[in-house]
This record gives sequence, structure tokens and C-alpha cells, in this order.
Amino acid sequence: MNSDAKRLDDPAAITRGDPHDARQALADFPRQCRAAAGLRPEPAPRAERPPLVVAAGMGGSAAGGDVLAACGAERLPVPIVVHRGYGLPPAASGRALVIASSYSGGTAEVLSAVDTAVERGLAVVAITSGGALRERAARHGIPTALLPGGLMPRMALGYLLFPAVAALRAVGLDVAGEPEVAEAVSIVEELAPALVPERPAGDNEAKRLALAIGDRLPAIYGGPTTGAVAYRWKTDIEENAKAFALSGVLPEMNHNTIEAWRAPRASEMHLVVLREHDEPPPIARRFAVMRELVGDAAGGVSECWARGRGRLARLLSLAYLGQWTSYYLALLRGVDPWTVPLLDELKRRVGIEAASDGVLD
Ligand code: F6R
Repeated sequence: MNSDAKRLDDPAAITRGDPHDARQALADFPRQCRAAAGLRPEPAPRAERPPLVVAAGMGGSAAGGDVLAACGAERLPVPIVVHRGYGLPPAASGRALVIASSYSGGTAEVLSAVDTAVERGLAVVAITSGGALRERAARHGIPTALLPGGLMPRMALGYLLFPAVAALRAVGLDVAGEPEVAEAVSIVEELAPALVPERPAGDNEAKRLALAIGDRLPAIYGGPTTGAVAYRWKTDIEENAKAFALSGVLPEMNHNTIEAWRAPRASEMHLVVLREHDEPPPIARRFAVMRELVGDAAGGVSECWARGRGRLARLLSLAYLGQWTSYYLALLRGVDPWTVPLLDELKRRVGIEAASDGVLD
């Protein structure tokens, strides 16, 4: 066993490398999902089925919207648009429903989306642990799923996702039925013991992936539905491991990015593909041919397979694997997986400027 693998199996080294105990938040993720599956916005959202859903959020709080949209794309008669930014798109009008998610409740872009929604008289659901979003919601009588605090937003994916599923069901949009929600929770419960630090590297998919990626630049690609999770891997690696990562989606990347996968630069990259066992044959073929074409030039290739039957379980299992992989990458790179000092500093400075411009409350 090499020294990196030993480090990931050494409890003392893990405690030193993770002083804020991010591992506990990740190990608790199945419990978070089970609790979140019981959360509902209060009061219940109004019952009319909307022709458009806009999931407004930033960073970790947008990730629930991405999973929601990927699940919804396959079965809903209406689109779910994930909106990352200030205000709302003009299409958010009339009977559109806005799901405003901000774990902290203090994110300027999401507050501005809520203000715009209120101005336009749109139906809104808030998902938050408190802050200004909770206050706004109370002021305007907006149905709110109130989340427990204390987590980093990116580690609260269960809390941000499941109440949104419930909110949509309440307005006649069945993104995932109760059995699919139950399956998703069971799948992450089963997966947790296989990924926690106590499970040695030889038998731990997340540790093995982190070791395989090592110092290389990870490029994560998913198929038409797992692509939403590929992006989540990228942001988890950026925030937890403080390292660059790329992400993309097949088939689109076959039409552009594939050309960049050439020697010698491709040897600095690690290709990670997020797969499903019953992919449509054209997608499976594309993954196979892509590997034939770029596999030799790449520094390394890893395939990760979704678990479960339902879409929700599959996406959540891949997202959970990505969380742990980024966690172990953080330990290997000697950075604290919990803190995000640049992100915080940027929010602080922009917040001060925005407040003096009168943009924020
Ligand atoms: C930090 C994180 C960030 C935040 C984002 C928005 O852990 O994941 O990406 O999610 O800055 O903040 P919230 O989620 O509080 O609205």
C-alpha cells in the first residue's frame, strides 16, 4: 500500500486533515435524507399545477434544483428551469412556481429572485434554515420548508432536495413518487458504510477514486441524466478539495470537448465517467467509443456506476460518491474540506458593496 493510501486509512491523519469534522456531516447524510424526506413546506403550497417551475438557488443550494430538474425532465409535462442569478427570467410569469432555495437564507441572488417573484405575484416556496429568506417568507406568507442549520450548504443536499420533491407533489407534479423517495434514502443508507473513512482504501470506492485521480485534473462526464451530477462532482471538488475540475455531458461533449483530449496534455487529466447499467444503447456506445479514442491519452480513467432503480436513487448515489471522493481528495491535497475562505471573503466584500449601493436590505 502506498503512503497516500495509508494516509486515507489513518484515523489520526484524518482527524488532523479534517479539523471541522466534515466527515461526520457526510457520514450523517443518510440520516439527513431520511429526515428530509419527511419535511414539507408549511403551509402547503397552493394546489394549482404550474406550467413552469423555476428552481432558484446558488452553489450548493442550486444542486437540489439540478437533481430535481434531471428527474423531472423524464416524466413531467412542464419544465423545471434551474435559475442561478439575480431576479428571475421573464418566462417566470403568470402561474409559474418559484422554489427559492438558500441553505443559509442569506444569498443575495435568491433573495432578489424572491423579491421579483413577489412583485410579479408568483407562487413561491422557500427552502432554508433561516436568515433573510425565512424572514421574507414569513412576511409574505410564503410556504417554507425550515431546515436544521449547522451544515455547509453543499453538505445539505438531502435537505435541499427532498422538500422540493414534496412541494412539487403538492402542486400536482410527481417528480418522484413515495416509493422512489424511499428507495433513494435506502440506497444512500446502504452506500454510507462502504465510503466512510473507517472502510479501508482497498475496499472503498471513494478512496480508490481519489487515489486514482491524485494530482491530476479530474474531468467528470455524465450521460443525459447523470450529467447533472457530473457538475455537482465538479463543484464539490472545487469547494471541498480546493482544486480545479471539469465536467460535461454526453452526447454534447462528443461534439466539441472530445477534440481537446489529446496527448500530451490529456495525460495531466483523469477521466471520470458516471454511468448507468441500463443506459440507452446509443449512450452506452458513445461512452465505449469515447474511452477507445481518449483512454490511452488520458492520465487515467475511472468508471462510476449509479446504484438503484429509480432516477432519484441513481442520482443521489452518484452525488454521494462524489461528495466522499472530493473529501478524500481534500485530505490528499492537505486542505480543510469544510472551510471555503475565498467564497466567504467574496460574499463579504460583495455584500458590503451591494449594501452601500442599496441593492441589499
Ligand atoms: C458552501 C456552498 C456554497 C453555497 C452558496 C450559496 O458550502 O456550498 O456553494 O451553497 O454560496 O449559499 P446558500 O446555499 O447558503 O444560499
